[in-house]
Amino acid sequence: MDWPKQLIDKLEETSRLTEEEWVLLIENRSPETAKYLFEKARRWQQKYYGKRIYTRGLIEFTNYCRNDCYYCGIRRSNGNAKRYRLTKEQILECCQAGYGLGFRTFVFQGGEDGWFTQERLEEIVHAIRSGYPDCAITLSLGERPKESYRRLFEAGANRYLLRHETADEAHYGSLHPPELSAAHRKQCLWDLKEIGYQTGTGFMVGSPGQKASHLAKDMIFIRELEPHMVGIGPFVPHHDTPFAGEKGGTAELTVFLIGLLRVMMPKLLLPATTALGTIDAQGREKGVLAGANVVMPNLSPTCVRKKYELYDNKICTGDEAAECRGCLDRRMESIGYELVIDRGDYGGAP
Ligand code: 5AD
Ligand code: FES
Repeated sequence: MDWPKQLIDKLEETSRLTEEEWVLLIENRSPETAKYLFEKARRWQQKYYGKRIYTRGLIEFTNYCRNDCYYCGIRRSNGNAKRYRLTKEQILECCQAGYGLGFRTFVFQGGEDGWFTQERLEEIVHAIRSGYPDCAITLSLGERPKESYRRLFEAGANRYLLRHETADEAHYGSLHPPELSAAHRKQCLWDLKEIGYQTGTGFMVGSPGQKASHLAKDMIFIRELEPHMVGIGPFVPHHDTPFAGEKGGTAELTVFLIGLLRVMMPKLLLPATTALGTIDAQGREKGVLAGANVVMPNLSPTCVRKKYELYDNKICTGDEAAECRGCLDRRMESIGYELVIDRGDYGGAP
């Protein structure tokens, strides 16, 4: 047997590779290695989750952001972004519509927007918690003090998504302004885990300057953190950012990394992301066939969809939530999987 397959076997058996081994495996990947990897990945995916694909309804409730990440379309320096905030009533309407469509997890994602104070956020979480006791509440609000995370958890939130973006300090520095650091980002993730959130991290694939050694560090950091979820998607340039002219990531490398994540940590919740579906018409299907088991369609009102544009050509910005639900039902069915009505907790517990 050739050595890339042996490395994949080692990963499966020991759940770890050295940085050098990660680099070798990533740099020397081939269609044949990918096929071998994806077969293993699907075996683990199906052992824990069957052919059941979880859904989360994504509610993008504000595109105001105090941060200025170089890759992101809603960075504060982008004067062309049309800013919006959803009201509490609009947010609750999204949940109501989503519940009717079979969503049992709501993901609240927004820029780091100071208008949503701790009190306002807690009030929203409380309202959803009491209105939807059988649903999971996931927050994706960026970096906050540990005490803020704790109080939101106490108000009823269960999960938190915060991608580490890149585990390498210098690479992090090349994607973000100086006031942001990889170390602080990682500390937030440790805090979230300690508080008891089901925690999700992740990174962009093919971000400017990214090398195999950076991806190796991402994999090693993820193994150490032991998150419940890992969201990865290709970097897609946005025309109003400093990275407008940079090359985007590929679907091929993204799905290869999804396969590696599944084999490294077989119970992970792994989304086939919207960014993957944006750069490849079959991206989400390919993601699932490489080991992903979650999709996160948008529940935001159609009138604001286009404004939450982190990257160019984002799909589904003109579609109603019900259309996306139906579309994903059909897409999953076409590859022999099914979208389920379920909170979709870690490990596939009933
Ligand atoms: N391309 C792809 N993903 C992006 N994100 C932000 N901007 C882009 C982009 N241009 C991702 C980041 C962030 C998540 C919400 O969206 O990884 O954590
Ligand atoms: Fe939105 Fe296909 S998932 S239209």
